[in-house]
Amino acid sequence: MSNAPAEEIPTADIDLAAANHVIDKYLTLPGNLMPVLQGIQDEYGYVPKPTIDLVAERLNVYPSQIYGVLTFYAQFHLKPRGRFIIRVCVGTACHVQGAPRIVETFFDKLGIGHAETTPDLRFTFEKVACLGACGMAPLAMVNDSTYGSMTVQKVGDIIADYSQRPMKK
Ligand code: FES
Repeated sequence: MSNAPAEEIPTADIDLAAANHVIDKYLTLPGNLMPVLQGIQDEYGYVPKPTIDLVAERLNVYPSQIYGVLTFYAQFHLKPRGRFIIRVCVGTACHVQGAPRIVETFFDKLGIGHAETTPDLRFTFEKVACLGACGMAPLAMVNDSTYGSMTVQKVGDIIADYSQRPMKK
């Protein structure tokens, strides 16, 4: 697998119809910037740059204000994300139970690092703080599914499993 993280999709390829539809829905509501940005992220999986210019123009706000919101709230993403988000807990309990080896194995097998996405947009990998299930350490999640007592073997099994799954939701 390539070591290059996913590049941002060329902006010419972004179809703004969905973004316009979201803006239409909230256009007359006061305080509409957050719901508009959330709606756009729901549509595209992230907030593409051309949609930021569109929101600025149609809501009559400065792009810098929009970037301020997008960078303040961790829920927003400015780059494409994978269909499957793999999170590995690196909290204390998971760390002492071997999380660093699990993280390194994911890095090796996926060819990406923390907060990166595979070029085919299948996987995004993130190290995260305590997920609140320390009794299952070391812990990993793929989207909403939890995998406890992680091992190097299980890393391979998880990647093989999700590599077979459809890319469409
Ligand atoms: S430290 Fe990993 S779930 Fe709590």
